[in-house]
Amino acid sequence: MAQVKRAALPDMVLDDEVISLLAQLDASQGDVSQAMSLPPECYTSESWFEFEKRAVYDREWVAVGHVGAIPDVGDYFTLEIVGEPLLVVRGKDSEVRVLSSVCRHRGHLLGEASGNARSFTCPFHGWSYDLEGTLTAAPEMDGTLPFEDLKRTACLPTFRSTIWNGFIFVNFDGEAEALAPRLQGLTKLLENHRMEDLASIKPVEWAGNPWNWKFMQENALEPYHTHYLHTGIHDFAPSSNVRFTEWNDQDDAAIYREVQFTHIDGGFNIAGKALFPALPDLTEEERSRVVFAGVMPNLFLGAQADVVFYYVILPQAAGDITLRVGVLTSWDNLSIPTADLLLKGTIDGVAVFNEQDTVANIKTHKGLKSRVAPRTRWSPNEKTLAQMNNWLVKRYKRYAASLVPHAEAAE
Ligand code: FES
Ligand SMILES: [Fe+2]
Repeated sequence: MAQVKRAALPDMVLDDEVISLLAQLDASQGDVSQAMSLPPECYTSESWFEFEKRAVYDREWVAVGHVGAIPDVGDYFTLEIVGEPLLVVRGKDSEVRVLSSVCRHRGHLLGEASGNARSFTCPFHGWSYDLEGTLTAAPEMDGTLPFEDLKRTACLPTFRSTIWNGFIFVNFDGEAEALAPRLQGLTKLLENHRMEDLASIKPVEWAGNPWNWKFMQENALEPYHTHYLHTGIHDFAPSSNVRFTEWNDQDDAAIYREVQFTHIDGGFNIAGKALFPALPDLTEEERSRVVFAGVMPNLFLGAQADVVFYYVILPQAAGDITLRVGVLTSWDNLSIPTADLLLKGTIDGVAVFNEQDTVANIKTHKGLKSRVAPRTRWSPNEKTLAQMNNWLVKRYKRYAASLVPHAEAAE
């Protein structure tokens, strides 16, 4: 059995641009009433993205998907997190593991996008691995190395993983603090959705989105834009009905807000109504609001009466992200005869909002590349963005301070 792999990227030498940006971060800390947005280059600079890979994506719990997408033994999906190819699989013991999908022979990637398997055989030279990543066959290798010796060194590395409310997370450096104690407020708020027991439709993947990964969280987390960008279709969840929370250690891993609907069982589609029956344990109050939450850095979810929709954000470059978009609902709801149509309506409904957000994200990313790109003060309705920046700056500074001799750069 492979050992859990601790595998952070090698530390980087900070270039002048990163050092200059680190020196400008103080203005983005603090309360919404006084903080500013991050410097524009934090969204557009490839050097800064390399820094973020190490400061954030290597050191935090990074979302990969939901257990509802791999309910049976042998179910799996593959993905890449900031360039690291992963195989997320439910083993014979029913445990979910996050394995490397890189074959230990010459490095060919294993597995299709998703599926069910008894084992993974590399198409290149036929090496095979079981669902736990143990090497089970390596044809024609005996002449140089007995199989038992090879097996000791050539199993697929298992990365450290955890599950919160059914969502699977991986941590590359092996040192992230436990996730659940840092999500207490959000866990309580979503308790009755029972997300760990919900089914997940197979996530849809959208690649080639030309904007920074932070925009994706920002756009989803701030209610300032909803009245303007989504004129007329967001009125059942008005920004005047938003409830913010204070960001603190009990919710260190999340930024979130609630929005009270104008009616029970609201839903993000053109009718403004949930299409499936409400999830069974929700109170009337809970059915009358949506919770928008970013589990930082790369999971966004919207929990409404009948479904939870979620985005797993997969950054590729400073201005390029891939999105995995999934919908969770009860297994009972999926057994309704018209479930396929209701699901289609649910996804198409969210897509209407998403199309408008996409245009805004593309145009804002372009704007932030300008010579005169803005660094703004926030509206009170962008409180979540000030909170998100506090989360980010804490990580940026912590990593920078760990780099000797560049520690002064973080101060
Ligand atoms: S690269 Fe996988 S068997 Fe050779
Ligand atoms: Fe939006």
